[in-house]
Amino acid sequence: EKQGYKHFMLKEIFEQPARIVDTLRGRILLDRADVDLSEVELDAEWLAQVQKLTLIACGTSYYAALVGKYMIESIARVPVEVDLASEFRYRTPIVTENTLCVAISQSGETADTLAAMKLARGLGAKGLAICNVIESTMARETDGVLYTHAGPEIGVASTKAFTTQLAALGLLAVWLGRRRGTLDAEQAAVHLDALRTVPTAMEEILTDLEPYAEIAREFGQAHSFLYLGRGILYPIALEGALKLKEISYIHAEGYAAGEMKHGPIALIDEEMPVVVLAPRNGVYDKTLSNLEEVKAREGKIIAIGADDDNELRRLADIFIPMPEVAEVIQPLVASVAVQLIAYYIADFKGTDVDQPRNLAKSVTVE
Ligand code: M6R
Repeated sequence: EKQGYKHFMLKEIFEQPARIVDTLRGRILLDRADVDLSEVELDAEWLAQVQKLTLIACGTSYYAALVGKYMIESIARVPVEVDLASEFRYRTPIVTENTLCVAISQSGETADTLAAMKLARGLGAKGLAICNVIESTMARETDGVLYTHAGPEIGVASTKAFTTQLAALGLLAVWLGRRRGTLDAEQAAVHLDALRTVPTAMEEILTDLEPYAEIAREFGQAHSFLYLGRGILYPIALEGALKLKEISYIHAEGYAAGEMKHGPIALIDEEMPVVVLAPRNGVYDKTLSNLEEVKAREGKIIAIGADDDNELRRLADIFIPMPEVAEVIQPLVASVAVQLIAYYIADFKGTDVDQPRNLAKSVTVE
């Protein structure tokens, strides 16, 4: 079943281009620069006047929600609130009949996410689930479902479920923008074209595995890692750190690069590997100056950036090239790199990659 791969996680990492194709299939209407989500069955008129989206999820799916906020606010221009399901359900959230509650869950069985969705719908919100499992509890207990087509995910550490969630959120952003009249056809076409380039860009990043082997050799014994990103890549810094913690048992922290000077910079010395997500985008210059701050304190830099970015290559101890792609899809492509970093380090350490200690694939208890 592992089809020659050493672990399910590695197989699932490599499957991502095909599963993104599956998730986009039939949903992009190129001739109309629109997205077909008729399967979701939410009333278009209601959606056009929705006042706020509340995205709720746990773990990796929560990081997808954070990326979703960037996508939806910038593309559809509607306010998005993001919360951890386990926090949302125990505060007094502001939810009205004009709120769309989007619950993101691979399994559709996560207890906190189910309870948060129930709470939001009880307060009058409409519920949309982004879910990978047909007939799951979440899919049954909501108003509409947008399925990711990741296929069964066996590895406890989520990989292809995450990137297909991001693809679904990209589709949702364009769909909302078109329904609300906040996104014109020309702009929509640009975003849809970008989404269609994801599989090829992922294939490209999957062809060069040498940097990951080197990272494992050089830093496999490190006690702690820092992951830095800004803007739409900040959540990928969080996700990269979570992946490393889960499967290699190395402490890792994800940080918004601009926050470094407010505390975590104190941690940096020649022992500290710092993974920096720095492809060219609207915050590239800012990220680069944060990276210089790390360099000045002799931190070890693992940089993920554009293939032809010689300046970044020069600053990095280890460089992971990624193809130049539109900012909105950078999280999908960069995810593959952070997954591979975690996988190679865990494999180097010889941990049980697919079944890490203390973790279960779906968390059905509070
Ligand atoms: O099935 P869900 O998407 O609701 O699961 C949420 C989290 O439990 C899950 O993403 C968890 O954080 C993974 N182990 C991450 O790799």
